Amino acid sequence: MIDKIQSKFREVFNSAQPEIVVRAPGRVNFIGEHTDYQEGFVLPGAIERYVYLAASFSGKKEITLYADTFGEYFTTSFTDIKKQKGAFWYSYLLGVAHFLQIPVKGINILIMSNLPAGKGLSSSAALETGAALLFKRLFNIKLNDLETIKICQRAENDFVGVPCGIMDQFISLKGKKNHLLFLDTRSLDFSYYPFPQNASLLVVDTGVKRKLNEVGYEQRKQECETSVKILKKIYPQLKTLRDLPPEPGEWEDFLPRPLRKRVKHVVSENNRVKETCKALKRGDLSRVGELLVESHQSLRDDYQVSCPEADRLVEISLKAEGVYGARMTGAGFGGSIVILCEKNKEETVISHILANYRTPEGEKPFYLKTSLEEGACEL
Ligand code: GLA
Repeated sequence: MIDKIQSKFREVFNSAQPEIVVRAPGRVNFIGEHTDYQEGFVLPGAIERYVYLAASFSGKKEITLYADTFGEYFTTSFTDIKKQKGAFWYSYLLGVAHFLQIPVKGINILIMSNLPAGKGLSSSAALETGAALLFKRLFNIKLNDLETIKICQRAENDFVGVPCGIMDQFISLKGKKNHLLFLDTRSLDFSYYPFPQNASLLVVDTGVKRKLNEVGYEQRKQECETSVKILKKIYPQLKTLRDLPPEPGEWEDFLPRPLRKRVKHVVSENNRVKETCKALKRGDLSRVGELLVESHQSLRDDYQVSCPEADRLVEISLKAEGVYGARMTGAGFGGSIVILCEKNKEETVISHILANYRTPEGEKPFYLKTSLEEGACEL
């Protein structure tokens, strides 16, 4: 890949080798969905698909970007960076440049990727963490990992305008080979869980494009915040839904529908993340599979962020031989599902899915058999 990047860089910028090449992975969230904006638990892993960035100083007073996927250039002066806010391909990277306050020194940046966008695999977070690493190295900016992750999240929240939590940026930077990452999104303490050696991870895309700036995500976030406000009347100490006990209690009767269902999801999902970690430690893959399915049902029925295509894909997957469990992954409203299956059964599972599922456009779905990988790094 590095050769391909270097020759593309020479071609598009008509220049010498790039001074630096970095890559940042996408992610799959194994379990812990829609919990990170209520200080809950998540368990994602970085996948073997990346956004690559290559750069050199240009001697000019502007930033020029080239997105290989679109075959498009974008140039801006430093003073105009803040005008590029929005959900455009260049905004993710420029948002990071803006919040890192990079010095005025012209650069050319090439963006290449084998991580498809719109499939719920966090290509945006990968672009942000890749950009942060690139700028840090080029300009010798001293920031620790946590500060870097927070800058990336801020770029997405306040520059791109998507009110996401911290999970995607965190895993894209802190991923570890063959491990899932358990993150407490309140304390930001994290630990790694080895992915079982006798199992495989599959990702299958519904073919329904999802955009995080769609209203659904923001609406759910709002519903959680409203619920916290209401519940403070009976639990004055409550800061976020994270503080509710796992057992249904008084709060159930206190909340109107659909808030009751939303809260039920968040509380039960936090519990499932912890249960999953315990089951992984015991090597109890059947239990892990059950928890994945329960998570899907909760996202479908209580949180209502799934879609008929994801429900169908999960149902089809669960009928394939060797599957422990499956669930929608990421924000929902389309995007991908994640499947845990026995090692060496991947082909059987994929053939079963390809024989039974077509995207809304009538095509075979995009799929990945993926290992878990390291976070963003320089190549
Ligand atoms: C998106 C957001 C994350 C998280 C998930 C849902 O991926 O970027 O912060 O909220 O949705 O779990």
